[in-house]
Amino acid sequence: MAFVLSGAGGFLGRALLPPLLERGEELFLLGRDPARLGRQLPEAASCRCETWDMRQGEAPAVVSAGDTVIHMAALLGNARVDRRTYLRVNTEAVMHLARQAIGAGAECFVFFSTVSAHGPIGSEEAPLREDFPFRPVSLYGESKARAEEELARLDWGRTRLLTLRPGVIHGADPNAHSSAARLMRMMAAPSYLRAGGGRSCFNVIRREHLVHALLYLLEQKAGAAGGTEAAFLVRDDPCPSMAQVQDWIQQAIGHQGRRIALPAFPLKVLGQLGDVLRARGIPFPLSRETVAGFSGSGYYSDISKLLASGWRPPADARKAVLASAREFHGQ
Ligand SMILES: NC(=O)c1ccc[n+]([C@@H]2O[C@H](COP(=O)([O-])OP(=O)(O)OC[C@H]3O[C@@H](n4cnc5c(N)ncnc54)[C@H](OP(=O)(O)O)[C@@H]3O)[C@@H](O)[C@H]2O)c1
Repeated sequence: MAFVLSGAGGFLGRALLPPLLERGEELFLLGRDPARLGRQLPEAASCRCETWDMRQGEAPAVVSAGDTVIHMAALLGNARVDRRTYLRVNTEAVMHLARQAIGAGAECFVFFSTVSAHGPIGSEEAPLREDFPFRPVSLYGESKARAEEELARLDWGRTRLLTLRPGVIHGADPNAHSSAARLMRMMAAPSYLRAGGGRSCFNVIRREHLVHALLYLLEQKAGAAGGTEAAFLVRDDPCPSMAQVQDWIQQAIGHQGRRIALPAFPLKVLGQLGDVLRARGIPFPLSRETVAGFSGSGYYSDISKLLASGWRPPADARKAVLASAREFHGQ
């Protein structure tokens, strides 16, 4: 019984591979360029690798009965592609692999979704819960929400679906355009922005903690035959404020930049303007999504379902951010 992984060469995948190999699991990797994967991940040499470009459609038939399929590959929120490409990669390709998993009698299909599928509809008083509706404000969020909705419509038979919805994932080497990477770089610059006093809840998780949660949930056979029961919001605990995360990063790297305080409202307007410009193909650094993530509590998640499963993060949110900041900045 093997593990079939997509996106193993990505930020998250690079942290999942070592513990699976340590446990002696048989691994099957799906990637755009297996030769590059082998160079990127020396451990991949001991795995079977197959080519799958999700823009092209069907995945090669690699799933067998009893396998666990972990689908991590995706276009993130920063991708400069059109809506059609987002839907092809983040929605249609997921369905191809999920149907294959069900047809082959896989034991479990893990789908990495995101809080962006919900959109920023949480608040400090009413944090996001797994059964909240999908009201995404980005193509990325829309493509993941569509995938979740379509997965929920499948007949899962003997296969279990497990969907994880993390917020911002931080660690040593995130995708250079990701929210975590941008924040880490900003905190090492001569000056940095703090919006709305930095009071918003910042929904973050350390990459290694997310891998820990995933392995724990798999062991517990968490998940369901589709639908909301299969989903878990995931974040470190307790949920810090943006100001705390910024201060911890500066503490970790021993650097104190000049703070530029901004009220949250003008940023919101700039985020809306950014969406309009981006829709016309004009690059702009802000969007409703990025502004909501950095200056509002819209993505603040209630993780009581995850904690009720018995999972506890290996370290608290502060230690997690300190460790990631040091690793990111090579200290
Ligand atoms: N990073 C975050 O903060 C965050 C937050 C919430 C949810 N998530 C979710 O977590 C998962 C992993 O994210 P990550 O941070 O590891 O992202 P990442 O570092 O950008 O990695 C994405 C992976 O997807 C693969 N991929 C992209 N387009 C592909 C295509 N057309 N065909 C085949 N493979 C393709 C990439 O392959 P190549 O190596 O060939 O480029 C890469 O391995 C994603 O599903 C993401 O939506 C991430």
